[in-house]
Amino acid sequence: MSPMLEVHGLSKRFGKVVTAEDVSFSVEPGTALGIVGPNGAGKSTLLSLIGGVLAADGGTIAFDGKDITTLSSGARSEMGIARSFQIPRPFVDMTVFENVYVGAAFGGKVQGQAGYDTTAEALEISGMSHLANVPAGQLRLLDRKRLELARALATRPKLILLDEIAGGLTEKELPPLIEMIRGLRDSGVTVIWIEHIVHALLAVVDELMCLAFGKILAIGDPREVMASREVIEVYLGSTFDMGEAAS
Ligand SMILES: Nc1ncnc2c1ncn2[C@@H]1O[C@H](COP(=O)(O)OP(=O)(O)OP(=O)(O)O)[C@@H](O)[C@H]1O
Ligand SMILES: [Mg+2]
Repeated sequence: MSPMLEVHGLSKRFGKVVTAEDVSFSVEPGTALGIVGPNGAGKSTLLSLIGGVLAADGGTIAFDGKDITTLSSGARSEMGIARSFQIPRPFVDMTVFENVYVGAAFGGKVQGQAGYDTTAEALEISGMSHLANVPAGQLRLLDRKRLELARALATRPKLILLDEIAGGLTEKELPPLIEMIRGLRDSGVTVIWIEHIVHALLAVVDELMCLAFGKILAIGDPREVMASREVIEVYLGSTFDMGEAAS
């Protein structure tokens, strides 16, 4: 079986800022990869390169055995790559249901009854059914994050890219979100999840990558990565929320 995602020698710079330098890794189908790294490391940029919002300067990306390096983000979305953004941007005047239906219709290419069914299922999985008729602009942060997840899910992805979906949530709000993401992975969706809240990642991911200055410092077993000298040095002196996982 080929990897769900295979990135080889990826590079990207903005002027003098190097955000990806010879980045190579792969993710097996139905597994979850976590990504940590200091602010500005290039984490969101990497998701943009995988999703096709940004074009790479060099390197290749293969998805589900096919080279997607030069494909548009729309084409990648149709193939089964979905993304939740670090800053949620829902259509504020539309209801939660309508927002998710847009994901189903345009990303998932399902309309009419099938579109409604896909939307209802995505709302159910993300715990938002009861908010279906609320305008997205009225949602609190947790529900805006859930809406991001529901919109991505409605495209019926094989690979979902989550960018700080837990950021800004309280400790009490975290467990349901963690359960949801674990459930997704367990249902066969491949997950790549950027998060600063390391204990949330450690509760779900099969592998962990630490990025810094556009380079992979370490990748592999999550606890071994967090214990590696390079990773500890990068985080020394910064706030680093290991929570329960530290013991
Ligand atoms: N469109 C852009 N144009 C110019 N510079 C950019 C652009 N997008 C990102 N950058 C720069 O690239 C670097 C990496 O940004 P990126 O958003 O990928 O970091 P990050 O690891 O996601 O950080 P954070 O943890 O703060 O979200 C930063 O220095 C950022 O300012
Ligand atoms: Mg980011």
